[in-house]
Amino acid sequence: MAYPEKIAAGLLCAGIPLLLAGTVIFYLHTNRPAEQPALPAETTVCETTAAETTDTSITRTETTYTSTTTTSTETTPSVTSTAATETETTASETETTAMPEETTTQETTTAETTTAETTTETSAAAAPTYIDGILVVNKTYPLPKDYNPGMDPECEAQFALLRKGAKEDGINIYLSSGFRSYTSQSYIYHNNVKRCGKELADTFSARPGHSEHQSGLAIDVNIVSDRFIGTPEAIWLAEHAHEYGFIIRYPEDKTQITGYKYEPWHIRYLGLETAQAVYESGMCLEEYLGITSVYAE
Ligand code: DAL
Ligand code: ZN
Repeated sequence: MAYPEKIAAGLLCAGIPLLLAGTVIFYLHTNRPAEQPALPAETTVCETTAAETTDTSITRTETTYTSTTTTSTETTPSVTSTAATETETTASETETTAMPEETTTQETTTAETTTAETTTETSAAAAPTYIDGILVVNKTYPLPKDYNPGMDPECEAQFALLRKGAKEDGINIYLSSGFRSYTSQSYIYHNNVKRCGKELADTFSARPGHSEHQSGLAIDVNIVSDRFIGTPEAIWLAEHAHEYGFIIRYPEDKTQITGYKYEPWHIRYLGLETAQAVYESGMCLEEYLGITSVYAE
C-alpha cells in the first residue's frame, strides 16, 4: 500500500471507533432522565416548615377560591362548656397512599378514602366546648371526631369582605387552607411528625381533634410559611383582621400560652364584637378566656 493510502486507512480505522463512541455519548446525553425539580423548602427543612404544607385543602391561587355570599344568622351558642376527654389508641401508623393535591378550598372525600386511621394519640371530645359562647379548640380542648361542619358560612362571608377591604388597600389576601376533617388533620399531623419528629411537629401542627381548622372557623391565608412574616399582606392582616371579625390566633409573643409557634397567616373567626375585644386586649384567645392549651398526655 502506498504511503498516503496507509495514512488514509489508519485514519479510517481510528475514526470509526471514535465516531461510534461519539454517537453513544451523544445518545446518552440527549436521552438522560430529566432533572428532578428541587423540592420546595417547606418540604425539606423542618425549621422553616410551614405548618400545613401537606394540607389537603390548600389552594395557591385566588382564582380557585369562590367565596359564598350566603348571609347567615347569628348562631352563637349559649355557654355550654363541656369537659374534653382524651382516649388513647394503639393503632399503628398505616398510611401508604400519597395525598393527592387538591384544587378546591373545601376538602374532598379523597382524603377520607385514601387515608387510613393513623393516630396514636387520638383525642376526642363528647361535644365541642364553648366558653363564654366561643367555640374553643386548642391542645386542651379537642373537638369530637365526627364534628364535620364544613366552612362556617358567616366566617366565609366575612372573609370575602376582608379580601375586598384588603384589595381596596392594594393587598392581595387569599385562602390557602380552610376547613379540615379529623381524618385530614390526622394525615397532616402524622406527615409532619414523620418529617420533623413529634416534639417539633407539636409546635406548629395540631394533633387530630385539636385543630381549629376542624371547626370551620379558621383560615390560613396566602403563604403558609415563615416567608409570610413581615410581608405587606401579613402586616395588613395583623392591623385589619379584627375589623372583619378575625384574630391572628397564634401571635408571636404568645407561643408559650397558645402552644404554637407564630402563625401570622392563621386567622380565627370570632365575630366582630369579640374579635375587636380580643384585639384591643392585646391578649391571645387563651388569655382572654382564662384557659390553657396543653395536651393531656
Ligand atoms: N397550625 C395549626 C396549629 C393547626 O394545625 O391547626
Ligand atoms: Zn392554620
